[in-house]
Amino acid sequence: MKDPVRIAITGGAGQISYSLIFRIAAGDMLGPDQPVILQLLEIPQAMDALNGVVMEVNDCAFPLVQDIVATDDPNVAFKDADFALLVGARPRGPGMERKDLLEANAAIFSVQGKALNDNASRNVRVLVVGNPANTNALIASCNAPDLNPRQFTAMTRLDHNRALTQLAQKTGKRVTDVDSMIIWGNHSATQYPDLAHTKVAGKPAFDLVERDWYENDFIPTVQQRGAAIIKARGASSAASAASSAIDHMRDWALGTDQVVSMAIPSDGSYGIAEGIIYSYPVRCQNGDYEIVQGLEIDEFSRGKMKATEDELREERAAVEHLLG
Ligand code: NAD
Ligand code: LMR
Repeated sequence: MKDPVRIAITGGAGQISYSLIFRIAAGDMLGPDQPVILQLLEIPQAMDALNGVVMEVNDCAFPLVQDIVATDDPNVAFKDADFALLVGARPRGPGMERKDLLEANAAIFSVQGKALNDNASRNVRVLVVGNPANTNALIASCNAPDLNPRQFTAMTRLDHNRALTQLAQKTGKRVTDVDSMIIWGNHSATQYPDLAHTKVAGKPAFDLVERDWYENDFIPTVQQRGAAIIKARGASSAASAASSAIDHMRDWALGTDQVVSMAIPSDGSYGIAEGIIYSYPVRCQNGDYEIVQGLEIDEFSRGKMKATEDELREERAAVEHLLG
């Protein structure tokens, strides 16, 4: 039996966590042979609800769950954490843009960055799900000077998965037939879902779909999917967000043959400003990720990649005072 790993999850009583915690406990993130200790963080007002979630996890009698910690203290939640999924934040409601959340949620991530710095395992892998996810990850990372910025990532895997299904449905193929999907930039309406390098069952996607569909249907559909879910459900995506968070962490920790999209600190690749948390195509191996290099970028793509970069630079400027 392997030693247990410690997984911190913030916003433990929220709707994403209500799916996420149970799937992690079942072994979906790190495999059926990896015991886990769940360390769940909430705000004081939500501790009753969190205790109810803990009761339910206990009632499942998951063989992999060795212990559950429920707390409103980030220093306790992040103690020796090997993985941290930062989900807790205020979600946007109908009619709101993600940047409306910037101020409301920024403070949370500076506190949590410090708590990770002071308490987490030196190898902790951090995924920020709470919006605006990219800039929240930047804030957390800047408040954790003793950790490597590469340990801080944000989630664009949901966008990636949404794009996979849109293309598979359009071409009458399966998601497993799609190779090299790419989401560039921000987890927001400026993100650029790029099909220029994508193949479906070995054929270039552009040989199978019309340019008009790509520019005027596919791209806006993926960009606006979060808003469409909010409109339809009256609440933001939850089970799909949890599923994508599991995909992101599993691939990062255990590796994958696929090109996947992760928002990570830019190292300047593809001319993107260094330091912002920008979604790139990556390959994950040996517990690490690497940006896919050498892709040819045409003028259309360059414009889209720049627009989402500009938005992230603006977000960074708006939270400058929290970046230490
Ligand atoms: P929710 O309101 O149901 O749950 C959020 C939980 O976080 C609440 O229980 C709240 O009490 C808790 N919380 C708030 N501040 C906290 C803090 N400082 N510490 C710990 N917990 C705290 O929201 P949700 O639907 O679960 O969504 C959570 C976040 O995820 C939102 O910001 C949402 O916009 C975002 N989201 C991101 C993606 C993505 O693809 N990156 C997808 C879906 C949702
Ligand atoms: C999503 O993409 O579903 C989430 O980020 C929720 C939102 O506000 O769009």
